[in-house]
Amino acid sequence: MSWTRESLIAAARDAATRAYAPYSNFHVGAALGFADGSVVTGANVENASYGLTLCAETVAVGKALSEDWRGRLEAVAVIGGKAGAVGAGDPVTPCGRCRQVLNEVAALGDNDPTVWCVGENDVLELVLSDLLPRSFGPSSLS
Ligand code: THU
Repeated sequence: MSWTRESLIAAARDAATRAYAPYSNFHVGAALGFADGSVVTGANVENASYGLTLCAETVAVGKALSEDWRGRLEAVAVIGGKAGAVGAGDPVTPCGRCRQVLNEVAALGDNDPTVWCVGENDVLELVLSDLLPRSFGPSSLS
């Protein structure tokens, strides 16, 4: 595993600089850390039809699964904030849809990944099952 908590957070922070968020002006970056050492990032992508917005975590999962199968998801870092103040304020936790989207890739790698939600004064360390207890996933369909 070549990434660390700090490098994953730094990757999420860097990804947030590439957010396309002209409507909310709220820039989010997410970084997925896999057991093979790879890191896949995403940033939020908004749309003039507001409801079509893609969150940073969802973009990262889409990249990870569509580019290649990365195996076991070990950790996720999420950071956000108004443009020019990313990481300021309270920790940003993944929205409900993103929790479900993350759950899919977590289940594929049979792991309950750590989720680091970055705030100004603290990094909230959770696991995905804290955020999405009693989840519906691939095994629910069997
Ligand atoms: N957003 C994310 O990218 N991830 C989340 O988990 C919460 C919200 C984005 C969506 C939208 O572009 C902006 O933050 C404001 O809601």
